[in-house]
Amino acid sequence: MPTPHIRAERGQIADRVIMPGDPRRAERIATEYLDDAELVTDVRGILGFTGTWEGRRVTAMASGMGAPSITIYATELAREYGVTQIVRVGTAGGMSTAVGVRDVIIATGAHTDSSMTASRIPGVRFSHVPDFALASAAVAEASRLGGDATVHAGTVFTSDHFYLERPELSAALTAHGTLAVEMEAAALYAVGAAERIRTLAVVTVSDHLLTGESMTSDERESQFDAAVRIALAL
Ligand code: HPA
Repeated sequence: MPTPHIRAERGQIADRVIMPGDPRRAERIATEYLDDAELVTDVRGILGFTGTWEGRRVTAMASGMGAPSITIYATELAREYGVTQIVRVGTAGGMSTAVGVRDVIIATGAHTDSSMTASRIPGVRFSHVPDFALASAAVAEASRLGGDATVHAGTVFTSDHFYLERPELSAALTAHGTLAVEMEAAALYAVGAAERIRTLAVVTVSDHLLTGESMTSDERESQFDAAVRIALAL
């Protein structure tokens, strides 16, 4: 049955979902990687396509930007569509000298200053972590695939802000091993915990806060490939 934000009928969404932020990227994943992909939802322009990859059913559906947006879609997918696995494939800003533009990060934990997770269990500093088996499988898949992309496993910072510059906060997070900043992983991991589904974020570093370097638009498409291939194999 459709939800306030997803128009698909229940059976039209696969039990595993690969979730970029950008609806056009969901469409590109469907066109370039999936067989027999069909548009199953387009409410508010958040496109979702269901098809198969190597014979397994999968849905590619966008999350939109930020913690509130991904929380709405991930929660409805888990509760109303029986989705059991969501892998975010997005972009992130590099924070650490340990990562470069074009690298891929398998987010083994996500710090956040988002009030969304603070309000889930008041008084508790919640640990935002992916499904362990899924994260391990992603690391294994990355080395099996080989290829040009450097893949890291480590922590990210999920921020509610894209434009607010906080150099002291960035320095402190980096000093604590944080590799990159993005805007959804922690919220997705919180939904994973709340709804008891497997979640993981595999992000590609599209720009770097320290160097100011960023990917060209051509590179954004090709470099994204490593993250998508890792996510599809899970
Ligand atoms: N901040 C937050 N999210 C991002 C960034 C950034 O610098 N780059 C890509 N996603």
